[in-house]
Amino acid sequence: MSILTFRNVSLRYPPQPGRKGAGEKRVLDGINLQVASDELVAVIGRSGSGKTSLLNLAAGFLAPSTGTITVDGAPVRGPGADRAVVFQDDALYPWLDARDNVAFPLKLKGVPLGERRARAQALLDRVGLADAGDRNIWELSGGMRQRVGIARALAAEPRFLLLDEPLGALDALTRTRMQEFLLRIKAESGAGALLITHSIEEALLLGTRVVVLSPNPGRLTAEIEAGFNAEVRAGASVAAVKASPIFKRMHAGLTGLIHSGDDEELAA
Ligand SMILES: Nc1ncnc2c1ncn2[C@@H]1O[C@H](COP(=O)(O)OP(=O)(O)OP(=O)(O)O)[C@@H](O)[C@H]1O
Ligand SMILES: [Mg+2]
Repeated sequence: MSILTFRNVSLRYPPQPGRKGAGEKRVLDGINLQVASDELVAVIGRSGSGKTSLLNLAAGFLAPSTGTITVDGAPVRGPGADRAVVFQDDALYPWLDARDNVAFPLKLKGVPLGERRARAQALLDRVGLADAGDRNIWELSGGMRQRVGIARALAAEPRFLLLDEPLGALDALTRTRMQEFLLRIKAESGAGALLITHSIEEALLLGTRVVVLSPNPGRLTAEIEAGFNAEVRAGASVAAVKASPIFKRMHAGLTGLIHSGDDEELAA
């Protein structure tokens, strides 16, 4: 069991030269959060609340201004193969075919060509793209590209998957299918997951826990345990879960939490 921990983390971006009146920007403040291997923690918050910044900290692309981020007690000092990132836009390498995209992290690790191609193929099989290995990236649909991105993330056998709106660019039908897919893949991989999403529905459906990030500066203001993830993995259909009264009630509750600051903000 691995644990990703944020302890009293704050983040400030430096003032941007040339922008009038703009001082240092406090983006995150007092963030305390733990993600364990058996969890999928969904972070929800409005645009600009600092969700991507939070994920970039976990990925090691940014360093906190104060506080610490650790994986199993060891401080995160930069990007590492123990934490794999999947972005909203697939960010695949267009000059490589699907298989070589998936194999790329293995190349970085020095795995020999034959072995990495075989392992990439096994990963493509797992994400339902057994026949797509030779295809160019531009020959794949959006949903297929995201599955290649997820297969690539899994290639390094990370301890944590860091997912920033991974399904945000997909149409509603594909998105529902990919939500089921993501839950299955996450469970099979044994990795913990931090999922950033705009969608309250998606957060509730996929998260074992949902945390709310409130803006200016970003603080975690609410935390909810959700059991729908387990229901879907046990075979319940996503449509049936979403239609259930308890799902609707929790959805309404979360919506209220996320929008509770609106009046003060308008008055300010
Ligand atoms: N590199 C940067 N330098 C300065 N300010 C930044 C930088 N990156 C983000 N910000 C600011 O920090 C705040 C939080 O941005 P962030 O991208 O983390 O929000 P978000 O919750 O992911 O938003 P969205 O839902 O739109 O993706 C925003 O006000 C943004 O303008
Ligand atoms: Mg973002």
